[in-house]
Amino acid sequence: MKIAVLGYGGVAQAFCKYIDERDEEFEIKYILRRPGKATEPRMIEDINQILTDNEIMIVVDLLGGLDASYQYMRQALAARKHVVTANKAALCYGFEELTTLADKGRLQLRYEATCGGTVPIVAELISLSRCNEIDSVFGILNGTTNFILYKMFKERAEFSDMLKEAQRLGYAEADPTSDIGGFDVSNKISILSASAYRGYITKQFPVYGMDKITKRLMDGFAVTGKTIKYMGVSKRCGNRYALGVVPVVVNAGSIEANVPLNYNMGIIHGDNCGDIKLYGQGAGGRPTADAVVRDCHTVKETINVVPDYIFTNDLVYDPDLLTGTGYVGQEAIHGSLEHLVAIAKDREVALAFEIDGYIN
Ligand code: HSE
Repeated sequence: MKIAVLGYGGVAQAFCKYIDERDEEFEIKYILRRPGKATEPRMIEDINQILTDNEIMIVVDLLGGLDASYQYMRQALAARKHVVTANKAALCYGFEELTTLADKGRLQLRYEATCGGTVPIVAELISLSRCNEIDSVFGILNGTTNFILYKMFKERAEFSDMLKEAQRLGYAEADPTSDIGGFDVSNKISILSASAYRGYITKQFPVYGMDKITKRLMDGFAVTGKTIKYMGVSKRCGNRYALGVVPVVVNAGSIEANVPLNYNMGIIHGDNCGDIKLYGQGAGGRPTADAVVRDCHTVKETINVVPDYIFTNDLVYDPDLLTGTGYVGQEAIHGSLEHLVAIAKDREVALAFEIDGYIN
């Protein structure tokens, strides 16, 4: 099957290397690169060459940024290409439009690599949602921030030193404020919530960065047998749901607390399956590229099957579903996450959230 790759960053290079060397089921006919960057004959600069080539079955979007990736995905679906993407910002931005285009065209839009790197959380959510009412999805969904917090927790390292190290290791976004400020996780928890609850999700929900977490704060929680993980959190009850992004207080001996380095964890609760915790590398070229390869195989294997994921507009955002105790600076306040984030933003202090009913 002939495919085209958009972009040639770390994930794209790992993807192309894997396909070229180890996967005979796909042939990369084109790699779209910025003008002047081509270093081999299949590298091209014009997206139209891909869109008008009837041999291309899958467009694999591995671009960073937002606008070009979103536009190319729209154009690819309109040109009747299946799409596999790793770009969470672009997918989240155009989620309703892109999934509608895919649905109407009976095309596949696969996006495992957008959330949790190699962790098969999207596939699992889609599968579980066939036979469960999924009532929560929590996740450590950012390798950069997990790396920083883990090093602060285990080695008492300093925030700024660990951010530099995460950048050096290639985990952080081009602009790491997207990681530490929560934009990256907000895209991921939004995509996961939509996939779990099969509905479109509001773009207005509470997001609190982890940049105010200090070694001193972590040490304070350590004395009480707890630590902090940066998480996307989402709950559903019937057609109501709530979600957010926040530093979460967990028990120091829990699996969550001990998710190391660039690893991520997806924590799903369904009414039949109970708790499922999925764990693996959440950032980095090779692990993320592996999720892209799996999506390409899923498209190929199910190319003549109408995708079974449909999304509705029936969900209602209800912030009261996510309540807990917020440690806002020196004070412990009980309330909804939305309320606590508003207070912490107003006071410009660190917020750590202990979620009601979350056992770890
Ligand atoms: N910057 C992201 C992270 C890359 O650190 O998790 C993977 O989405």
